[in-house]
Amino acid sequence: MYPAFDDNCPLRIAVLISGAGTNLANLIERIADRRLHAIRIAAVVSSRGQVRGVSIAQAAGLPVHIIRRRDFAEDSMFSDAITEVIATAAVDLVIMAGFLCFWRIPPRFHNRVLNIHPSLLPKYGGKGMFGRAVHEAVLAAGERESGCTVHIADNEYDHGPVVDQRRLTIHPGETADSLARRVAELERELYPEVLARIQERGLAWLDEIVRERCGAPRA
Ligand code: GRF
Repeated sequence: MYPAFDDNCPLRIAVLISGAGTNLANLIERIADRRLHAIRIAAVVSSRGQVRGVSIAQAAGLPVHIIRRRDFAEDSMFSDAITEVIATAAVDLVIMAGFLCFWRIPPRFHNRVLNIHPSLLPKYGGKGMFGRAVHEAVLAAGERESGCTVHIADNEYDHGPVVDQRRLTIHPGETADSLARRVAELERELYPEVLARIQERGLAWLDEIVRERCGAPRA
């Protein structure tokens, strides 16, 4: 069962989703079995209403907010609606997990938003590079390896300092489907591992990563 909020849980996260919610389900499980003992999901934001990720969040009793781009006249209004939910939920860290829309990250959340991507960034990222398209492009290019990346998100698609990656060797006869499955398995390890490290080291660890990779903290 998903544990209630208590004073021993200093880190409040929001999870942004658009689809199946496999990564969300995995985080819920790791929080419930206390491997992520110091983390609680304070809000789930979905850019689509009728997706499995929403049912997963509801079944865990989490507050779910459906915020669809088409309900807003402008990108900026859509972004503001997401920011408002996150601010109201007093979130410390935002986890993008299959979120397919563009959320303009406000200054308050710079270096406090993570994304997971099913390739070894900077390769095979950017607008339109999601799901099967990523794995097809990797195979078409004849790559020998692929994997997944957790990075600190900035205001460009799939861009920002890499926190960590997991790699796999591409098998002979590998298909986009088999690659998608194998990369998804790595994602299930990598995202919780990164969160466990944040749990131990605190959010300032993300600032250190930015300093190491970029030379100076971003404003
Ligand atoms: C994952 O492949 C992730 O890397 C990408 O979107 C997919 C999300 O899947 N950003 P799910 O919704 O967690 O099942």
